[in-house]
Amino acid sequence: MFEVSSANTGDVYAIQQIYTALRRPKRTRLSLDEYLVARGDGQVVGCAGVQLITVGSVCEGYLYGLAVRKEHQRKGIGAALTEARIDRVRKSHGTRATALAMFWNVAFFRGLGFATIRRSELSPAILALDDFVDARYRRSAVMVRSVVL
Ligand SMILES: CC(C)(COP(=O)(O)OP(=O)(O)OC[C@H]1O[C@@H](n2cnc3c(N)ncnc32)[C@H](O)[C@@H]1OP(=O)(O)O)[C@@H](O)C(=O)NCCC(=O)NCCS
Repeated sequence: MFEVSSANTGDVYAIQQIYTALRRPKRTRLSLDEYLVARGDGQVVGCAGVQLITVGSVCEGYLYGLAVRKEHQRKGIGAALTEARIDRVRKSHGTRATALAMFWNVAFFRGLGFATIRRSELSPAILALDDFVDARYRRSAVMVRSVVL
């Protein structure tokens, strides 16, 4: 069993530990208010971030930093963290959620209703984010899901 909630300051170490264990790119400046964690077995078993970007009257969400401890994968935790992030986008009246996915995770996002689009179809606000100019994510697929209000 696990529970998804907003992250708090006491979770930073566990989040970094998960990234290190999974050899995920380090995020040196964690914006904790953007983070959700999944707790189970008395520990943080997964984490994920969502940045809300509002330009004028349009809000959209950038989903990033999703990771689930290896021994807890394939139990629905990644899906729950993603749905919880979509909820945050929805509550802010956002209309679209965007994620970058390595090719081996494309099926995971497709299963959650995301579709692949070209980078040229993204808004300038999303394209300006650090991850979209970072060479490490150059080959990642861009996946989007419409958020129904
Ligand atoms: C990708 C990741 C977050 C998935 O988390 P998870 O908790 O194992 O995923 P879930 O159990 O919620 O899976 C939801 C569904 O996607 C499927 N799925 C999970 N990972 C998948 C993958 N890599 N490819 C295809 N399908 C996948 C599951 O089988 C499940 O399908 P079902 O609903 O038909 O049973 C996890 O494998 C992980 O942390 N990987 C390492 C870090 C990483 O790659 N992060 C993603 C950055 S984009």
